[in-house]
Amino acid sequence: AAFLEAVAEKSGSGALRGDYTHADAQYVVRQDWNAYTPDEHALWRRLYARQAKLLPGRAADVYIEGLAKLEAEDGIPRFDQVSEKLHAATGWRLVAVPGLVPDQTFFEHLAARRFPVTVWLRTPAEVDYIVEPDIFHDFFGHVPLLFNPVFADHLQEYGKGGLKAMPLGGLPYLARLYWYTIEFGLMETAQGLRAYGAGILSSGGEIEHCLTSPKPRRIAFDVERVMRTLYRIDDYQDTYFVIRDFEQLFQETAPDFTPIYARLSQQAPYPANTLLPGEKHWKVD
Ligand code: PHE
Ligand code: FE
Repeated sequence: AAFLEAVAEKSGSGALRGDYTHADAQYVVRQDWNAYTPDEHALWRRLYARQAKLLPGRAADVYIEGLAKLEAEDGIPRFDQVSEKLHAATGWRLVAVPGLVPDQTFFEHLAARRFPVTVWLRTPAEVDYIVEPDIFHDFFGHVPLLFNPVFADHLQEYGKGGLKAMPLGGLPYLARLYWYTIEFGLMETAQGLRAYGAGILSSGGEIEHCLTSPKPRRIAFDVERVMRTLYRIDDYQDTYFVIRDFEQLFQETAPDFTPIYARLSQQAPYPANTLLPGEKHWKVD
């Protein structure tokens, strides 16, 4: 995958960080919860507390509600306990993985309502910035929204859509969709713009930047526009796309993407900092 390669390239070694030797064919491992050290639990609490303080007024309410259900503020959570709660709510389960997994495996998990969560935690030196997703990003960023039924259904559809896109050459476009929604999405609410993307909500800096900095564009979500737009993996985003709610996201991604992929393959992508004439966008002051 483009993203995997970019990550490997950036980390310099070309190798991923996790221990893949015990993974099964679906890249699933056991979460050896007893192996987490007291220092790691303490670092988790520090990350959690810092981030939780930033959520009011910045994160979407639906995310804050989901996070509360996880009861994960006191230490690194046990996936099996969270899975039971989640399964009762929306039919999703967590599976432990050593880190990034191949695209097809990732899509297969999502299509079966399984969310892969990395088992290892970053080091204290990486509190502010981490190259590969760790348990804090995967769990704190992604899992809360899986309690929302519409989001939960959407993510499963995304997984099915990924498997369908593979032979169609659609992955670069689907990756952009994922990036600009699941990872870096904003939502318009009666109280103003709020973040719901995991990459924002697990970041100490971008959560404020995405809402108040005058630098990035904040553009009304349009599925084909999003899929045509390049993104940055090395810095805060140049552009955020704004949805009204998860129903909009679900409905606008429901049509058959096959003709869209064909069209996009004939068109140059937009640079990450594009604003097209007449495009609806939000100004911050
Ligand atoms: N509707 C898309 C297709 O037909 C699948 C999809 C659904 C992709 C939801 C992303 C999110 O290919
Ligand atoms: Fe993520």
